[in-house]
Amino acid sequence: MSFPNDFLWGGATAANQVEGGWNEGGRGLANVDVTPWGADRRKVMSGTANAHALDQNHFYPGLEAVDFYHHYKEDIALFAQMGFKVFRMSIAWSRIFPNGDEETPNEEGLQFYEDVFKELQKYGIEPLVTITHFDCPMHLITEYGGWKNPKLIEFYKRLCTVLFTRFKPYVKWWLTFNEINMILHLPFMGAGLEFEEGEDQEKAKYLAAHNELLASAWAVKIGHEINPENRIGCMVAAGEFYPYCSMPEDVFLAKEKERENLLFIDVQSRGEYPRYAQKMFERMGLDLGMSPDQENLLKDNTVDFISFSYYSTRCVSTRPEAGEQVGNAFKGVRNPYLKASDWGWAIDPLGLRTTMNSLYDLYQKPLFIVENGLGATDELIKDENGEWTVADDYRIEYLKAHIQAMKDAVELDGVPLLGYTSWGCIDLVSASTGEMSKRYGFIYVDRDDQGNGTLKRYKKKSFDWYKKVIASNGEDLSNN
Ligand code: BG6
Repeated sequence: MSFPNDFLWGGATAANQVEGGWNEGGRGLANVDVTPWGADRRKVMSGTANAHALDQNHFYPGLEAVDFYHHYKEDIALFAQMGFKVFRMSIAWSRIFPNGDEETPNEEGLQFYEDVFKELQKYGIEPLVTITHFDCPMHLITEYGGWKNPKLIEFYKRLCTVLFTRFKPYVKWWLTFNEINMILHLPFMGAGLEFEEGEDQEKAKYLAAHNELLASAWAVKIGHEINPENRIGCMVAAGEFYPYCSMPEDVFLAKEKERENLLFIDVQSRGEYPRYAQKMFERMGLDLGMSPDQENLLKDNTVDFISFSYYSTRCVSTRPEAGEQVGNAFKGVRNPYLKASDWGWAIDPLGLRTTMNSLYDLYQKPLFIVENGLGATDELIKDENGEWTVADDYRIEYLKAHIQAMKDAVELDGVPLLGYTSWGCIDLVSASTGEMSKRYGFIYVDRDDQGNGTLKRYKKKSFDWYKKVIASNGEDLSNN
């Protein structure tokens, strides 16, 4: 057997992409609510559009999303049918603290998550909870400037204390920040950052990242104190950087790009900034002003495991002839050896094995793949029994190849892997585009890019395939 018996198979979601119920149960407004679908989305996510409220001119897909808020029982029953051992979900911060800076939490918000955890418990599914997945209460942005402000560390600590205490009977797997390195690419989404004209954006981003890293160490500390059984991980958007060619300049650029991601794991897993990061801060004139207590906090509270998302590798070049820049948050050039998804994301299963090996070589902590999958256009059709379904063989092919690569990393390279949660196990709103039509799920949700649809759920062909993969503990990846 390639995978241990307690290997955690499952699926992953995020509150802002599935929950909806944005103004129910006392929930406050968050950055993810005011991020619209359409041409202005990118400006908002990158912090240059100053979106503070909802307006009539935009459609906001996160407000209702796929309404997990009201459908969670039905959805969890479907996950249980697939045999999930684990379900990755996140907490909407503004459901617990509507403004973010209150002294006491919102009981209705806590009760909602407790109900979800109880439902998971009914089926023996372990929750893997991301404390923040791109969401920040709007009040913390307008009043405090988002994560630029160290006061957010205190508010986040309060959130963590409440969550670890209240959910001690239900949750032991936690992630501190989703894709913490995303702050460098989509800073409003990653850290509630907005920029003034002429502001040094790079400095602001690294300062905010530093605050998140301190907050993450606090989460580890508080989480371990409240329940020594808690297993708390970091989460990074991973995917090896390839040099476009063997030119030394391209090779070095790939290394530099890789380091932009690795420095976060270094702090969270080794407890200190790598020397190249310190040099970079010196060149930028950025003084993090770290006290000895803060240095010790980072050093003494490193994560138990390293989790990451993997969709593709990235290819970079120093030469303009290498072609136009492609990709969403992580820009690079097209890799001539790889096919790409309908959204232009390179498909590279072996890259997953390479990425796993690189991460384990460097940090030697167990890994957890908490996102992987294919965003594709699906068509609802009737099967031979007259049931609505999606013949998503392309998704099965993608997942099969990636699970095989991860199996090779485990079996042939000896990389310890705790689990695998496929992204968007139920169709959800795309983070980068706000579309519903970029679908990842085993379960189709009837809703379109403009918010029309019944929200009815349908099983795709991949549903039964993944069920079989889980039942065989990853041994049977065959199509039939
Ligand atoms: C990761 C995020 O970046 O990739 C998810 O953690 C996101 O929130 C996922 O949905 C896939 O990206 P997209 O843009 O296709 O939704």
